Amino acid sequence: IDIKTLRGVTGGLTTLDPGYKNTGSCESAITFLDGEKGILRYRGYAIEDLAEKADFLEVAYLLIFGELPTPEQLEKFDTDIKAESHVDEDMKKILDGFPKSAHPMGVLSSMTSALIAFNPGSVNVDSEEEMYNAIVKLLAKFPVLAAWAMRKKKSQPLDYGSKSLGYVENLHKMMFSKANEDYSVQKEVIQALDKLLILHADHEQNCSTSTVRIVGSSHAGLFASISAGISALWGPLHGGANQAVIEMLEAIKEDGGDTKKYMAKAKDKNDPFRLMGFGHRVYKNFDPRAKIIKKSADEVLGQLGIEDPVLDIAKGLEKEALNDPYFVDRKLYPNVDFYSGIIYRALGIPVEMFTVMFALGRLPGWIAQWKEMRQRKEPIGRPRQVYIGENHREFKSLNKR
Ligand code: ACO
Repeated sequence: IDIKTLRGVTGGLTTLDPGYKNTGSCESAITFLDGEKGILRYRGYAIEDLAEKADFLEVAYLLIFGELPTPEQLEKFDTDIKAESHVDEDMKKILDGFPKSAHPMGVLSSMTSALIAFNPGSVNVDSEEEMYNAIVKLLAKFPVLAAWAMRKKKSQPLDYGSKSLGYVENLHKMMFSKANEDYSVQKEVIQALDKLLILHADHEQNCSTSTVRIVGSSHAGLFASISAGISALWGPLHGGANQAVIEMLEAIKEDGGDTKKYMAKAKDKNDPFRLMGFGHRVYKNFDPRAKIIKKSADEVLGQLGIEDPVLDIAKGLEKEALNDPYFVDRKLYPNVDFYSGIIYRALGIPVEMFTVMFALGRLPGWIAQWKEMRQRKEPIGRPRQVYIGENHREFKSLNKR
């Protein structure tokens, strides 16, 4: 459809679709998803292949620019990102202003927004070069801010990373390096992180991505749009579910590991409890990402020699749900968040950072979607409503009410 032919088509019939369950908000060439068959592809490539064979920076390039990079393109992309990885010293004063108790997602969202003040040019994206520069700046500085958010929580000195490391290893260094110790990491850890970030990198028009596109549609700029996306991702019904899952599994463990009791709670309509990490708006068969992550959880824990009793609880819940008519009838299966937290924990990542890890993975997807929206010159996002309030009323002055 030519976007211009849709312009100006307003008035007349309004479709009411709370939660946009059946409303397409855009055309997109980035991610294909078949919820019935459990298929997920980025730019035509199967998620299974990408998770197995690509690294995160290649996938970021693929999502943003539409093709897998050649070695030269990837090297340039990497070099350009490294050249932009500095964060203004004054940004640290903003970080210092947060209490230690601040949730890292709040810190990340605020700091991403604060970046605009230090990079005002990033808002001008009329030329391809300006757009590329804004994208590279954000990809470079975002992991620094994410790692800082974690260090702030732990009252640890900040790490500025190293230009000799790859994107994911550098992120890991900025999060975990210790003062007076040479930094090193097992390759299995970086492989596991790479895979998790790839699996989270895009998922078409979910809540946070739609937020990024709609904020960007007012031409608010890339950093402001992503900052809004981070806030949307934070909620427990979306990306915040990965933190909620591990907290739920821990609570079940503390309570004696009685999974049946929690299954009953999840089914009780008078109980607000939901089985976190279960169900998905689009996947009604299985979530292909959850399949890969479940296998990876077994592998990573095995490689690192870690035994985590919550993995057994998680598998127990999944088994029960697969045989329970409540879950089967409603087509509720484990989603991407169900097993990811177990891997994050095995990698030493604190629970409050889980959703930040999701944001780090989703960043290229958000950027790709924002870029597509701007390049297609989509109109400002502005849904309609069906008004159900009072009819016209006469105004009564204060002394007569
Ligand atoms: N536990 C128990 N019951 C559930 C669950 C759950 N996790 N998820 C859905 N249901 C039930 C609902 O109560 C509803 O039952 P009803 O038909 O008897 O009223 C039915 O299944 C349909 O659920 P909806 O909430 O209408 O489905 P929707 O598509 O709006 O929501 C969502 C999808 C938000 C993911 C939901 O399944 C949920 O809350 N899951 C738990 C949170 C979670 O894991 N979120 C992460 C999603 S993946 C991501 O964002 C990265």
